[in-house]
Amino acid sequence: MSIDKKMETAINGQINAEMHSAYLYLSMASWFEARSLNGFAHWMRTQYMEETMHAMKFYNFLCERGGRVLLKPIGEVPTEWKDQIEVFEEVVKHEALVTGLINKLVRLARELDDYATDSFLNWYVDEQVEEEDTAGAIVAKLKLIANDGMGILQMDGELGARAVSALVSPTIMNEPGKA
Ligand code: FEO
Repeated sequence: MSIDKKMETAINGQINAEMHSAYLYLSMASWFEARSLNGFAHWMRTQYMEETMHAMKFYNFLCERGGRVLLKPIGEVPTEWKDQIEVFEEVVKHEALVTGLINKLVRLARELDDYATDSFLNWYVDEQVEEEDTAGAIVAKLKLIANDGMGILQMDGELGARAVSALVSPTIMNEPGKA
């Protein structure tokens, strides 16, 4: 059974939101890059790849359900922040917004008795808990460090060690129907 048109439109909207998140984090990566905080920049580049994977997971799902992916323009993202705390506070705010969007999708899937989409969305519900928790913990640490140079450098090393999720490459490369 092909996916309901309302669900198809909502998922296309979410593909755009995930690509917008990827673009936002890439902009943040470049802000850190310009300050030679390469570990922070690496964390943001990794986040950019994770968001692209989130978008591609929706893309693949829509293809599998007989829907049509329609890509829309990606909205403009900010390019300047006051300091690293402000950057990560925006990450927390942004992830809370994405959680709201995912919850809306779950609500729609349930209204439409679309159990396949409801089940698929569980992965995102869990992922959002992790994303909000991780970003919140970084803000807390950055506030403790404040503007202490040694602390910031130590944090730069920590964030620079972030590994890319094992799902990134297979999800992006997975072509539905050709596996
Ligand atoms: Fe795709 Fe960071 O939520």
